[in-house]
Amino acid sequence: MKVIKAANYVDLSKKAAALIAAQIIRDPSSVLGLATGSTPVGVYSELAELCGQGVIDFACVTTVNLDEYCGLPAEHPQSYAQFMRQKLFDHVNIAKSNTHLPDGMAKDAEVECLRYERLIEGLGGIDLQLLGIGRNGHIGFNEPGESFAPGTHQTGLAKDTLDANSRFFGPGEKVPTQAFSMGIGTIMRARSILLIASGSDKTWALDKTINGPVTPQVPASVLQFHRDVTVIYCD
Ligand code: F6R
Repeated sequence: MKVIKAANYVDLSKKAAALIAAQIIRDPSSVLGLATGSTPVGVYSELAELCGQGVIDFACVTTVNLDEYCGLPAEHPQSYAQFMRQKLFDHVNIAKSNTHLPDGMAKDAEVECLRYERLIEGLGGIDLQLLGIGRNGHIGFNEPGESFAPGTHQTGLAKDTLDANSRFFGPGEKVPTQAFSMGIGTIMRARSILLIASGSDKTWALDKTINGPVTPQVPASVLQFHRDVTVIYCD
Protein backbone atom coordinates (compact mmCIF):
# COMPACT_ATOMS: atom_id res chain seq x y z
CA MET A 1 0.00 0.00 0.00
CA LYS A 2 1.34 3.43 -0.91
CA VAL A 3 0.14 6.02 1.59
CA ILE A 4 0.35 9.70 0.64
CA LYS A 5 -0.52 12.55 2.97
CA ALA A 6 -1.93 15.54 1.10
CA ALA A 7 -1.55 19.07 2.46
CA ASN A 8 -5.29 19.73 2.33
CA TYR A 9 -8.47 18.75 0.49
CA VAL A 10 -7.56 20.67 -2.69
CA ASP A 11 -4.16 18.99 -2.77
CA LEU A 12 -5.80 15.58 -2.21
CA SER A 13 -8.22 16.22 -5.06
CA LYS A 14 -5.46 17.32 -7.45
CA LYS A 15 -3.23 14.35 -6.61
CA ALA A 16 -6.03 11.81 -6.96
CA ALA A 17 -7.20 13.40 -10.23
CA ALA A 18 -3.61 13.28 -11.53
CA LEU A 19 -3.45 9.52 -10.91
CA ILE A 20 -6.80 8.96 -12.65
CA ALA A 21 -5.70 11.22 -15.52
CA ALA A 22 -2.48 9.19 -15.86
CA GLN A 23 -4.59 6.03 -16.12
CA ILE A 24 -6.74 7.57 -18.89
CA ILE A 25 -3.67 8.85 -20.76
CA ARG A 26 -1.99 5.42 -20.54
CA ASP A 27 -5.15 3.66 -21.68
CA PRO A 28 -7.83 5.88 -23.27
CA SER A 29 -10.27 2.93 -23.12
CA SER A 30 -9.87 2.54 -19.37
CA VAL A 31 -12.65 1.11 -17.22
CA LEU A 32 -12.89 3.31 -14.14
CA GLY A 33 -14.70 2.25 -10.98
CA LEU A 34 -16.19 5.36 -9.37
CA ALA A 35 -17.49 6.38 -5.96
CA THR A 36 -20.00 8.94 -4.75
CA GLY A 37 -20.11 10.83 -1.42
CA SER A 38 -18.51 14.13 -0.55
CA THR A 39 -14.83 13.10 -0.74
CA PRO A 40 -14.56 12.59 -4.54
CA VAL A 41 -16.37 15.85 -5.43
CA GLY A 42 -13.08 17.76 -5.70
CA VAL A 43 -11.50 14.96 -7.74
CA TYR A 44 -14.38 15.06 -10.22
CA SER A 45 -14.14 18.81 -10.62
CA GLU A 46 -10.35 18.50 -11.25
CA LEU A 47 -11.02 15.79 -13.84
CA ALA A 48 -13.59 17.99 -15.57
CA GLU A 49 -11.02 20.78 -15.69
CA LEU A 50 -8.32 18.50 -17.12
CA CYS A 51 -10.81 17.33 -19.72
CA GLY A 52 -11.73 20.94 -20.61
CA GLN A 53 -8.03 21.72 -21.06
CA GLY A 54 -7.68 18.76 -23.42
CA VAL A 55 -5.28 16.92 -21.10
CA ILE A 56 -7.60 13.91 -20.87
CA ASP A 57 -10.28 12.56 -23.16
CA PHE A 58 -13.26 10.55 -21.87
CA ALA A 59 -14.52 9.57 -25.36
CA CYS A 60 -13.51 5.91 -24.96
CA VAL A 61 -13.63 5.69 -21.13
CA THR A 62 -16.21 3.44 -19.45
CA THR A 63 -17.30 3.85 -15.83
CA VAL A 64 -18.93 1.54 -13.32
CA ASN A 65 -20.07 2.94 -10.00
CA LEU A 66 -19.69 1.17 -6.70
CA ASP A 67 -23.25 1.44 -5.54
CA GLU A 68 -26.77 2.82 -5.81
CA TYR A 69 -29.63 3.21 -3.33
CA CYS A 70 -32.47 0.73 -3.69
CA GLY A 71 -35.82 2.34 -4.36
CA LEU A 72 -34.52 5.55 -5.96
CA PRO A 73 -34.99 5.98 -9.71
CA ALA A 74 -31.98 7.33 -11.64
CA GLU A 75 -33.76 10.71 -11.98
CA HIS A 76 -34.19 11.12 -8.20
CA PRO A 77 -32.14 14.12 -6.95
CA GLN A 78 -30.46 11.95 -4.28
CA SER A 79 -29.72 8.96 -6.51
CA TYR A 80 -26.09 8.22 -7.18
CA ALA A 81 -26.87 8.25 -10.92
CA GLN A 82 -27.93 11.87 -10.57
CA PHE A 83 -24.91 12.68 -8.39
CA MET A 84 -22.55 11.32 -11.04
CA ARG A 85 -24.23 13.31 -13.79
CA GLN A 86 -24.04 16.52 -11.78
CA LYS A 87 -20.49 16.09 -10.51
CA LEU A 88 -18.77 14.49 -13.49
CA PHE A 89 -20.61 13.05 -16.47
CA ASP A 90 -22.27 16.33 -17.56
CA HIS A 91 -18.88 18.07 -17.51
CA VAL A 92 -16.75 15.66 -19.55
CA ASN A 93 -17.07 14.12 -23.02
CA ILE A 94 -18.07 10.68 -21.79
CA ALA A 95 -20.75 8.77 -23.72
CA LYS A 96 -23.68 8.34 -21.34
CA SER A 97 -24.04 4.77 -22.65
CA ASN A 98 -20.56 4.08 -21.23
CA THR A 99 -21.59 5.04 -17.69
CA HIS A 100 -23.00 2.30 -15.49
CA LEU A 101 -24.56 2.06 -12.04
CA PRO A 102 -26.71 -0.61 -10.46
CA ASP A 103 -30.42 0.02 -11.18
CA GLY A 104 -31.93 1.12 -7.88
CA MET A 105 -35.41 0.31 -9.20
CA ALA A 106 -34.61 -3.26 -10.29
CA LYS A 107 -37.51 -5.56 -9.41
CA ASP A 108 -35.38 -8.64 -8.85
CA ALA A 109 -32.33 -7.90 -6.69
CA GLU A 110 -30.61 -11.18 -7.45
CA VAL A 111 -30.94 -10.72 -11.21
CA GLU A 112 -29.71 -7.13 -10.97
CA CYS A 113 -26.63 -8.08 -8.92
CA LEU A 114 -25.76 -10.82 -11.39
CA ARG A 115 -26.28 -8.44 -14.32
CA TYR A 116 -23.90 -5.91 -12.75
CA GLU A 117 -21.19 -8.49 -12.04
CA ARG A 118 -21.47 -9.83 -15.62
CA LEU A 119 -21.34 -6.29 -16.99
CA ILE A 120 -18.04 -5.61 -15.18
CA GLU A 121 -16.68 -8.96 -16.27
CA GLY A 122 -17.75 -8.29 -19.86
CA LEU A 123 -15.90 -4.97 -19.78
CA GLY A 124 -12.73 -6.90 -18.95
CA GLY A 125 -12.73 -5.82 -15.29
CA ILE A 126 -11.92 -2.51 -13.65
CA ASP A 127 -8.58 -0.83 -14.38
CA LEU A 128 -8.72 1.69 -11.57
CA GLN A 129 -11.23 1.73 -8.72
CA LEU A 130 -11.71 4.98 -6.81
CA LEU A 131 -12.89 4.48 -3.22
CA GLY A 132 -13.99 6.68 -0.36
CA ILE A 133 -14.17 5.18 3.11
CA GLY A 134 -16.89 5.28 5.75
CA ARG A 135 -16.15 6.27 9.36
CA ASN A 136 -16.77 2.63 10.22
CA GLY A 137 -14.33 1.39 7.58
CA HIS A 138 -16.91 0.54 4.91
CA ILE A 139 -16.03 0.66 1.22
CA GLY A 140 -18.84 0.79 -1.28
CA PHE A 141 -21.67 -0.28 1.01
CA ASN A 142 -19.74 -3.21 2.39
CA GLU A 143 -20.55 -2.56 6.02
CA PRO A 144 -18.71 -4.14 8.97
CA GLY A 145 -19.86 -7.72 9.39
CA GLU A 146 -18.93 -11.36 9.72
CA SER A 147 -17.64 -11.98 6.19
CA PHE A 148 -16.49 -10.29 2.99
CA ALA A 149 -19.13 -10.23 0.23
CA PRO A 150 -17.71 -11.80 -2.93
CA GLY A 151 -19.84 -9.96 -5.50
CA THR A 152 -22.46 -7.28 -6.08
CA HIS A 153 -25.24 -7.69 -3.55
CA GLN A 154 -28.17 -5.96 -1.93
CA THR A 155 -27.37 -4.79 1.56
CA GLY A 156 -28.78 -2.87 4.51
CA LEU A 157 -26.92 0.28 5.49
CA ALA A 158 -25.36 0.51 8.96
CA LYS A 159 -26.82 2.99 11.44
CA ASP A 160 -23.63 5.10 11.27
CA THR A 161 -23.87 5.22 7.46
CA LEU A 162 -27.54 6.23 7.57
CA ASP A 163 -26.66 9.02 10.02
CA ALA A 164 -23.76 10.19 7.83
CA ASN A 165 -25.84 10.09 4.61
CA SER A 166 -28.86 11.84 6.09
CA ARG A 167 -27.03 15.15 5.49
CA PHE A 168 -27.76 14.81 1.77
CA PHE A 169 -31.52 14.43 2.31
CA GLY A 170 -33.97 17.20 3.14
CA PRO A 171 -35.95 17.34 6.40
CA GLY A 172 -38.70 14.72 6.31
CA GLU A 173 -37.08 12.89 3.38
CA LYS A 174 -36.42 9.22 4.13
CA VAL A 175 -32.84 8.03 3.70
CA PRO A 176 -32.98 4.70 1.83
CA THR A 177 -31.96 1.84 4.09
CA GLN A 178 -30.95 -0.61 1.35
CA ALA A 179 -28.46 -0.35 -1.49
CA PHE A 180 -26.88 -2.38 -4.24
CA SER A 181 -23.13 -2.47 -3.81
CA MET A 182 -20.17 -4.08 -5.48
CA GLY A 183 -18.80 -6.72 -3.15
CA ILE A 184 -15.36 -6.81 -1.61
CA GLY A 185 -14.51 -9.46 -4.21
CA THR A 186 -15.58 -7.12 -7.04
CA ILE A 187 -13.43 -4.32 -5.62
CA MET A 188 -10.43 -6.59 -5.01
CA ARG A 189 -10.53 -7.76 -8.65
CA ALA A 190 -9.84 -4.18 -9.83
CA ARG A 191 -6.30 -3.96 -11.18
CA SER A 192 -5.53 -0.85 -9.14
CA ILE A 193 -7.25 0.93 -6.30
CA LEU A 194 -7.15 4.56 -5.21
CA LEU A 195 -8.64 5.27 -1.78
CA ILE A 196 -9.19 8.85 -0.69
CA ALA A 197 -10.08 10.08 2.79
CA SER A 198 -10.49 13.60 4.11
CA GLY A 199 -11.00 14.79 7.66
CA SER A 200 -10.36 13.66 11.21
CA ASP A 201 -13.56 11.58 11.37
CA LYS A 202 -11.85 9.11 9.02
CA THR A 203 -8.66 8.74 11.14
CA TRP A 204 -9.87 5.65 13.02
CA ALA A 205 -11.00 3.84 9.86
CA LEU A 206 -7.84 4.77 7.98
CA ASP A 207 -5.55 3.61 10.79
CA LYS A 208 -7.35 0.25 10.98
CA THR A 209 -7.27 -0.06 7.18
CA ILE A 210 -3.52 0.51 6.94
CA ASN A 211 -2.23 -0.91 10.22
CA GLY A 212 -4.96 -3.08 11.70
CA PRO A 213 -5.63 -6.78 11.33
CA VAL A 214 -7.51 -7.75 8.17
CA THR A 215 -11.06 -8.33 9.33
CA PRO A 216 -14.58 -8.00 7.88
CA GLN A 217 -15.29 -5.84 10.94
CA VAL A 218 -13.23 -3.17 9.10
CA PRO A 219 -14.04 -3.98 5.47
CA ALA A 220 -11.36 -1.66 4.01
CA SER A 221 -8.63 -3.58 5.88
CA VAL A 222 -8.86 -6.23 3.15
CA LEU A 223 -7.08 -3.78 0.85
CA GLN A 224 -3.84 -4.82 2.61
CA PHE A 225 -4.10 -7.97 0.47
CA HIS A 226 -4.29 -6.06 -2.83
CA ARG A 227 -1.08 -5.56 -4.78
CA ASP A 228 -1.74 -2.04 -6.11
CA VAL A 229 -3.41 0.30 -3.63
CA THR A 230 -2.71 4.00 -3.22
CA VAL A 231 -4.20 5.85 -0.26
CA ILE A 232 -4.30 9.64 -0.36
CA TYR A 233 -5.57 11.37 2.76
CA CYS A 234 -5.63 14.75 4.47
CA ASP A 235 -6.59 15.96 7.95
C1 F6R B 1 -20.11 5.91 -2.10
C2 F6R B 1 -19.50 4.88 -1.28
C3 F6R B 1 -19.22 5.08 0.16
C4 F6R B 1 -18.48 6.39 0.44
C5 F6R B 1 -18.20 6.55 1.94
C6 F6R B 1 -17.53 7.87 2.24
O1 F6R B 1 -20.23 5.46 -3.44
O2 F6R B 1 -19.27 3.84 -1.80
O3 F6R B 1 -18.44 4.00 0.61
O4 F6R B 1 -17.29 6.42 -0.28
O5 F6R B 1 -19.40 6.45 2.65
O6 F6R B 1 -18.42 8.91 1.96
P1 F6R B 1 -17.98 10.43 2.07
O7 F6R B 1 -16.99 10.66 0.97
O8 F6R B 1 -19.24 11.20 1.85
O9 F6R B 1 -17.37 10.62 3.42
